[in-house]
Amino acid sequence: MAIADSFLQELRERLDIESVVSPYVTLKRRGRLMVGLCPFHNEKTPSFTLYPETESFFCFGCNTGGEIITFIRLIENLDFVEAVKLLAQQAGMQMPEDGYDDSLSKKRQRMLSANREAAKFFHSNLNAPLGQEALEYLENRGISKPLIKRFGLGFAPDSWDALLDHMRGRGYSASELHEANLVRKSSKSGSDHYYDSFKNRIMIPIIDLRGNVVAFGGRILGQGIPKYVNTSDTLIYKKSNVVFALNLAKNKNDGKLILTEGYMDVIALHRGGFENSVACLGTALTNEQARLLARYAKEIILAYDSDEAGQRATQKALEVLGKTGLKIRVLKLSGGKDPDEIINKYGPGRIQALLDGADNETEYRFSRARVKYDLNTPDGRLGYLNEAVKVLADLNSPVELDIYASELSKELSVAKEAILAQVKSQSGRQKYERKKQREKELYKSAKKGLTSAGRGRARLPANCEAKEIKAEEIIISILLHNPDFYRKFKDRLGAELFSDEFHKRIYSLIAERIEADKNIDLTSLSQELSNQEMTDLSSLFVKGQDLSNTLAQYGDCVSVLEKAKRDSTIIEPGKLSNEEFLKLFEKPNNE
Ligand code: UTP
Ligand code: MN
Repeated sequence: MAIADSFLQELRERLDIESVVSPYVTLKRRGRLMVGLCPFHNEKTPSFTLYPETESFFCFGCNTGGEIITFIRLIENLDFVEAVKLLAQQAGMQMPEDGYDDSLSKKRQRMLSANREAAKFFHSNLNAPLGQEALEYLENRGISKPLIKRFGLGFAPDSWDALLDHMRGRGYSASELHEANLVRKSSKSGSDHYYDSFKNRIMIPIIDLRGNVVAFGGRILGQGIPKYVNTSDTLIYKKSNVVFALNLAKNKNDGKLILTEGYMDVIALHRGGFENSVACLGTALTNEQARLLARYAKEIILAYDSDEAGQRATQKALEVLGKTGLKIRVLKLSGGKDPDEIINKYGPGRIQALLDGADNETEYRFSRARVKYDLNTPDGRLGYLNEAVKVLADLNSPVELDIYASELSKELSVAKEAILAQVKSQSGRQKYERKKQREKELYKSAKKGLTSAGRGRARLPANCEAKEIKAEEIIISILLHNPDFYRKFKDRLGAELFSDEFHKRIYSLIAERIEADKNIDLTSLSQELSNQEMTDLSSLFVKGQDLSNTLAQYGDCVSVLEKAKRDSTIIEPGKLSNEEFLKLFEKPNNE
């Protein structure tokens, strides 16, 4: 069962959103609203907005929004029940003893404590005779006791059941350990047999921002395949959401983070005094990781391996980081394949020197292009120029454009005006290509059927949202502020009229709650929704604050859905020309 509505209501009444948010965000009053720099993405001008009257928040920069519980869920990385607990403490309220389902939360807690216990076990092995070889391995790599301690490194013995036995002795069942990925299961001879996931490996705990051990990486001693064995995703760990060592680096940086590819690079960099180093652990950098980085830094220095794979990964990371607005520089590694090797060979001074000379993104892309051509030949110079122009066409800042165009002009002895002219036509072309690409995507998503527009879909570009989707949005926006409108139209408006799955779900939820005489404020709804859904809902809620909120407007939107239902057989994207088809998405004139 869920936490009682009445409890959530009381929580909402006792805590005002301003006091919940203000420890995390410096707020300034702006009329009836408060604004501040968003804690969920990196920004220079405030777009994080607090609505004290409706106890909600929304960031117009990163489209994150919700009410107090969602805010705490996001900022403290907690699940619903945990967030309510934390807020209840603040409000001086006793959590109801029973009557809410915290089994998931309990399971998470249990898994976290199992991981912590396992980390302690691995760590203590380094002090035991069976861990001597591992200790020597680490020391040979320059990793001494204090560093071992700081990272909580350990050793998994050369045994199939060392951890299993230890953990069973501490009251953890094999299936619990299996769910935590600490042991594996084989069911060969009909019955289940469990064995340690990590055997004869150096153990590196992966620790989240709140200090929980959420996963492990295990490195083989010396050569061998696989080099690393890692925890796969579990209830408490999603690889794509975690940045290694950010727990250490988040307080040790002056707005700059060094991003590497590997565990060992981070450890070596910390040893060299670069405690602002983190890693994305052998996966391509994800949007979630980039967002996380943006919470703690303004600038990212990429220090990926110098081999071809590392350079490809650098390109990919530049694309992902490009969306965050973070300043990006690329470390030009020379003299070694990765930061770890460079520090071991030349000492940390070399890294500092590289840092001092780190290319910014534009320079990096220039130099990547430059090495491909022989600049002593006219052909080579032209080839390089063409690529460089593409890079310049991506720049948003006229000042930057001017600086780099000047440099390029000097480098190639080509008139700056000629370069700028080429950049202009190139950026026109790139814009056109992007537009075409967008249309193609739009066409594709619509062909799948307008009805498939669910969460996580590629959203239709804002300027050509389907009329019905828009009407659905307005209906929900208005309804959230005027629950009584529901009954006036419920005979005409059933959930099946909604084409967007998320809207359908929200409308059903609202209908269900109103029919049961329950509240439909954001806090009450938040229990049923994920953070992403909450953010989407808050966006509608915030939009609703600016609408006229009349019953007539609500009715108009209902009519749009009714009409769409009647017409639904007419839209067959495949049969229309591209142009005709796009017309369908044009905004209605009355908006
Ligand atoms: P590297 O091969 O560069 O490893 O892979 P490394 O961290 O530099 O380790 P050393 O210096 O050889 O000891 C980079 C990262 O990719 C992931 C790990 O997170 C590693 O740190 N990786 C690599 C795996 O997960 N599995 C592997 O088999 C190899
Ligand atoms: Mn390495």
